Amino acid sequence: MIKKGIILSGGLGTRMSPITKSVNKQLLPIYDKPLIYYPLSILMLAGIKDILIIVNKGSVNQFKKILPNGENLGIKINYAEQDKPRGLPDAFKIGKNFIGKDNVALILGDNFFYGQSLSDKLKKIVNFKKGASILVHPVKNPNKFGVVTLKNNKIINLVEKPKKTKSNLAITGLYFFDNSVVKKSLNLKKSKRNELEIIDLLKKYKKTNSLKVEFLGRGAAWLDAGTIDDFNQTSIFVSSIEKRQGFKIACLEEISLMKKWIIKNKIKKAISFYGNCEYSRYLKSLL
Ligand code: TTP
Repeated sequence: MIKKGIILSGGLGTRMSPITKSVNKQLLPIYDKPLIYYPLSILMLAGIKDILIIVNKGSVNQFKKILPNGENLGIKINYAEQDKPRGLPDAFKIGKNFIGKDNVALILGDNFFYGQSLSDKLKKIVNFKKGASILVHPVKNPNKFGVVTLKNNKIINLVEKPKKTKSNLAITGLYFFDNSVVKKSLNLKKSKRNELEIIDLLKKYKKTNSLKVEFLGRGAAWLDAGTIDDFNQTSIFVSSIEKRQGFKIACLEEISLMKKWIIKNKIKKAISFYGNCEYSRYLKSLL
């Protein structure tokens, strides 16, 4: 069972410069809420209540302004700093003490997931003891992602940003690991681009046949808000769904209330915290 989760929310956001020169990407708005609400909502939907958010050096206080210690959501939020982007597996080195003897999920701070039965799927995935699981989704431009090639549902190959590939299955930014991930990450060597590579970490699991692939499913959306265009597309996607269906995607307080992690009194507090805005009006409608 996975009860702990890490959100990797640092990075330079180079592809979104100059916007990201003064503000971290994860604090920028995807339609009506900061980007970080979306990956956090995914961990919460998976039932994960013990969360470590890794941010850039010096920016903990900025994040704490919108996500303090988690008490308002009935969860636990801890922070750690990364002094420079060293690659995704660095999360397990930084998070070593947080992880302790437990299994852990990792989600990238700029990844957006949405889809029917996603919560059920996540709850099933976190229910494992050993190995690792990745979520894959077909994309049009696999050369921009880590790609997995399958044969009879078995992984035969894992490649980072392949120039040529027959597979269109991208590895999304949501990963589930058993506790050996800490040791494996500590032993990982840097790649040519001087970073620790998640693909190298996954290969260690594949070597022992303990890497599992889960499909997000056709009805689901996965967006990686890394470029200005992707960021705007994600915003448009959220706005279209919210306007048409009348409910919000990634309303953290709603998820907590639904899961009975908080009582309605906390929603009232949230309304006064957010002030006069659309998000507060939505929270009022939950009462
Ligand atoms: P990237 O897309 O690799 O990096 P980035 O978001 O800083 O963007 P750019 O390439 O334009 O400079 O990272 C994906 C996510 O993971 C993003 O949310 C930032 C985060 N991240 C870290 O927090 N630390 C790291 O060492 C790396 C590599 C990424």
